[in-house]
Amino acid sequence: MNEIPHDTLMAMKAAAKQAAANAYCIYSDFPVGAALLTKAGQIVPGCNVENISFGLTNCAERTAIFSAVSQGLKKEDLAGLLIYMPGNKLYSPCGACRQVMAEFLSESAPIYAACDKEETTLWQMSELLPASFNF
Ligand code: THU
Repeated sequence: MNEIPHDTLMAMKAAAKQAAANAYCIYSDFPVGAALLTKAGQIVPGCNVENISFGLTNCAERTAIFSAVSQGLKKEDLAGLLIYMPGNKLYSPCGACRQVMAEFLSESAPIYAACDKEETTLWQMSELLPASFNF
């Protein structure tokens, strides 16, 4: 797995935190931010966007990925992802997001969770969705 250098990781955390500040989360009051890193060093942010029809809510991870795809970025351009959730607990990405992440991040891509503590959790993409569906 290619771990992300500390300075870049801190820039991703700042971008994810900033995105979380834009979250539309009037139902859960739980703002989430994500920061997708490209191999060229670009950071693509995303936040959760909720809906009164709860199932239509889009998580931060998927917002970041869909935004990257909309910019023309491809799976081979993407290096890793960081999610930021507020508080002192480190959370992990939901199942729906794991499936979408597996579509656009390689099995060896590093996925980080961050919160308001300094520590992060690191997984390899394949650990988050082992034996994923593939043709
Ligand atoms: N949420 C995310 O954005 N990412 C996740 O991986 C888990 C949950 C959002 C969805 C909803 O807006 C709020 O967090 C509470 O579940």
